[in-house]
Amino acid sequence: MPQNAHETAVADVEAYLRAQEDKTLLRLITCGSVDDGKSTLLGRLLYDCKLLFEDQLASLQSDSARFGSTGTRELDLALLVDGLAAEREQGITIDVAYRFFTTDKRKFIVADTPGHEQYTRNMATGASTAEVAILLVDARKGMLTQTRRHSYIAALLGIRHLVLAVNKMDLVDWQDGIFDTIAADFKSFAANLGEMQVTCIPVSALTGDNISRPSAAMPWYQGATLLTHLETLNVGDGLGDQPFRMPVQWVNRPNLNFRGFAGSIASGAVQVDDPVVILPSGKTSTIESIATYDGPLTRAQAGQAVTLVLQDEVDVSRGDVIAATTDRPMVADQFAAHIVWMHETPMLPGRTYQLRLGSMAVNAQVTEIKHSVNVDTLERMAAKSLDLNDVAFCNLSVDLAIPFDPYSDNRTMGAFILVDRMHNATVGCGMINFALRRAANIHHHAMTVTQNTRAAAKQQKPCVLWFTGLSGAGKSTIADLVEQRLHDFGHHTMLLDGDNVRFGLNRDLGFSNEDRVENIRRVGEVSKLLVEAGLITLVSFISPFRSERQLARNLLQDDEFFEVFVDAPLAVCEQRDPKGLYKKARAGEIPNFTGIGSDYEPPENPELHLSASVFSAEQLAEQVITLLRNQGIIAAE
Ligand code: ADX
Repeated sequence: MPQNAHETAVADVEAYLRAQEDKTLLRLITCGSVDDGKSTLLGRLLYDCKLLFEDQLASLQSDSARFGSTGTRELDLALLVDGLAAEREQGITIDVAYRFFTTDKRKFIVADTPGHEQYTRNMATGASTAEVAILLVDARKGMLTQTRRHSYIAALLGIRHLVLAVNKMDLVDWQDGIFDTIAADFKSFAANLGEMQVTCIPVSALTGDNISRPSAAMPWYQGATLLTHLETLNVGDGLGDQPFRMPVQWVNRPNLNFRGFAGSIASGAVQVDDPVVILPSGKTSTIESIATYDGPLTRAQAGQAVTLVLQDEVDVSRGDVIAATTDRPMVADQFAAHIVWMHETPMLPGRTYQLRLGSMAVNAQVTEIKHSVNVDTLERMAAKSLDLNDVAFCNLSVDLAIPFDPYSDNRTMGAFILVDRMHNATVGCGMINFALRRAANIHHHAMTVTQNTRAAAKQQKPCVLWFTGLSGAGKSTIADLVEQRLHDFGHHTMLLDGDNVRFGLNRDLGFSNEDRVENIRRVGEVSKLLVEAGLITLVSFISPFRSERQLARNLLQDDEFFEVFVDAPLAVCEQRDPKGLYKKARAGEIPNFTGIGSDYEPPENPELHLSASVFSAEQLAEQVITLLRNQGIIAAE
């Protein structure tokens, strides 16, 4: 027997959910502002139907962990909360409330997002699993900018059914002419949204007309009430109709006799004896058995959590996808996608983010913003970076080929999030459109003469000395002295200097944040090539951002990269002002000068920290030489 109110609530909810299992589930998102009457409409729907109270939902959530990862109770639970879980883990605050209600015919989950301006991010979260969007407009005002915005985002997020609820019909004397004009306006706009089913319904949320009860005041409207429409709308079987895909969450190996691959089936169905392919490796096998928490199955389908056992001993690890052999996901390391930027720190092309798709995590960069989209007008615009709530169509590149499907085919296999690894925060979400062909058909070519061969011929250990610091701190002077010393010792070197490289390779770049990211990305790649050439490479760039210095570091082995922080206070650099640039910057002639109009992020753990306002350049160069001796790059004295 339940012992307390909490357990009673849980028991009630469970009994209740069991009774609901046979009904189909429809996921909705409501869009509109309080002014349009959204809360009234939601309140009316919930009031007219049997609803689940939020505190019950809360107990249900806290209890879910106890039930393991299978079973239908758990499934229903996941349906209720999955939209939130990922973001909660990431600590991102998203204003989306999920509500659950049911009628005799169907059960519904409503994602309710606030209607204020900073909206795109919240709506993207709420809409990512919704099948239907209800857009509210005030009959007195008709379509507004935000109606367009919401429709576009709904379409972008894969919603194929829009319901335009023309509300407050009581305030326009129930006139059919007004409704007809708004409905016609909306339909002509929605024709630009691709494949989209549009239904317009005249309602009054306040009086309940055409919500769940047909309106006597609007006999001219012959269509269904909002509720009837939602109860009968055919949204297809969705993921169940798709080819089989299961991202592997973990490899289950309790003993030597059992090895299974656990995960949630993302789409389609799988049966014992089905042939399957493991991606990205492309190895094939056959399903031997399907294990679940409640015992073995012969068949399982989208939404179920299962452990698959294969007939062959093939290599499968977390992040791999097990898929139908006949209809395979794409595997590529470059693709085009729509991105919704969700963070205050702008997205910069070339910067590395972690991309998570299914249970896979890889490093990713936006290589090009093809265009951003003005979500109010659907206009395409040029963009160099993306700000909070921006939407753009981009090319991305990831460091390993990954399996995916276009988002329009499969919303689970085509959606990803981008994570800032330093702060472990979700900064964007994306919907993949297609693999980029140029990424195909190139393969690493194994050369006979290697980095080791080249280094051996030079009798040295190649590496990168990465000098970073403010302009005027002394980077180039010190690097020059170090290179002279190395030469005296007979070493083979190369020095890449910011000012010099900007005359050639990087002459197309300026000093915006985006350009600095690209500047350092290129120099990082070049320094890697120089290390492969067997050279001791000195890099002297302001390189103001941690993220890109980390990127350059990641291109090399741990013992090949030495970050040297040339640390002189801004006041000292400014006083030295060797090129007169600080003076110009203070006069407003160089708007984004590092340290004045543009940030410098000091290294947190450099291999060497030089106090450049205390010691002479010669003394500092000697410290670098000592580092190289200690690291075994050059011989001890
Ligand atoms: S970085 O920030 O992209 O790494 P980089 O090292 O290539 O900069 O170039 C810095 C040099 O460009 C400075 O030493 C200075 O001579 C010159 N410069 C011109 N404009 C700027 C600016 N806005 N900010 C910093 N340096 C500038």
